Amino acid sequence: MTVPDRLTLPRLIDRKTEGRPITMVTAYDYPTACLLEEAGIDILLVGDSLGMVILGRENTLGVTVDEIVHHTRAVARGRRRALLVADMPFLSFHVDRRSAVRNAGRMIQEAGADAVKVEAGRKRARIVEAIVDAEIPVMGHIGLTPHAIQRLGGFKIQGRTLDRAEEILRDAEALERAGVFALVLEAIPEELGRLITQSVRVPTIGIGAGRHCDGQVLVFHDIVGLEQRKKPRFVRRYASLREPMLEALAAFKREVEQRRFPADEEVYSLPPDVAHTLRERHDQES
Ligand code: KIV
Repeated sequence: MTVPDRLTLPRLIDRKTEGRPITMVTAYDYPTACLLEEAGIDILLVGDSLGMVILGRENTLGVTVDEIVHHTRAVARGRRRALLVADMPFLSFHVDRRSAVRNAGRMIQEAGADAVKVEAGRKRARIVEAIVDAEIPVMGHIGLTPHAIQRLGGFKIQGRTLDRAEEILRDAEALERAGVFALVLEAIPEELGRLITQSVRVPTIGIGAGRHCDGQVLVFHDIVGLEQRKKPRFVRRYASLREPMLEALAAFKREVEQRRFPADEEVYSLPPDVAHTLRERHDQES
């Protein structure tokens, strides 16, 4: 089905030259996708952060292609105008180009995504090229790349030394040459975010990468305040939904326990004649 105002890749890329910031938010299920659509968010990202945010794991390394496919399918059912991007999880593109293209293809064919996101720098530029060659649009992800947390020593800001800043800049340029249509910049100093944004022709979407990126991305649960973990510096909580949700649950529990739920208007009744006959028959039997 073609949707007339669907945000296409060329339109998204034009946003950089137009100077119109891009919004991207994670979505892992159908109701969130519907909410994000209603809010007019440009890109729905089925991030492998779902391993932590939804599945309660310590990091993203255990997320599988099947899990991303499963959640992307749900999000695809709620998506209308936004671009839908599925994350390529750990080991889904690290083994060889063939399996990388196959796994990326599953995100498009089976899950209904428009594009995939790949945590990759120069080291995996050839793999990105192979995915792009297969006509699968790729969004790159550099800076703090959670697949490499063991090597990076945890969820830490990247690019603070001259060498590391230059490496990240070279990663951005290599990915642009490999054909990515956009770049996520995670947890890098603002000056480096600006330099990369000025150096590449594709839009940059920052998360903890400062104010000069062409767009910003946050995790849905962080925006609406459903997360309990310590808030990273770059997260802004726009609401605190945890408290009203807890209040609603406490009220439900209280009213069930006090037999105040359900009330008259929340129950179904039998037609009076059926109720009468049923009672009569039951009385005769007992
Ligand atoms: O997995 C994810 O949610 C991400 C975003 C934080 C960019 O990669």
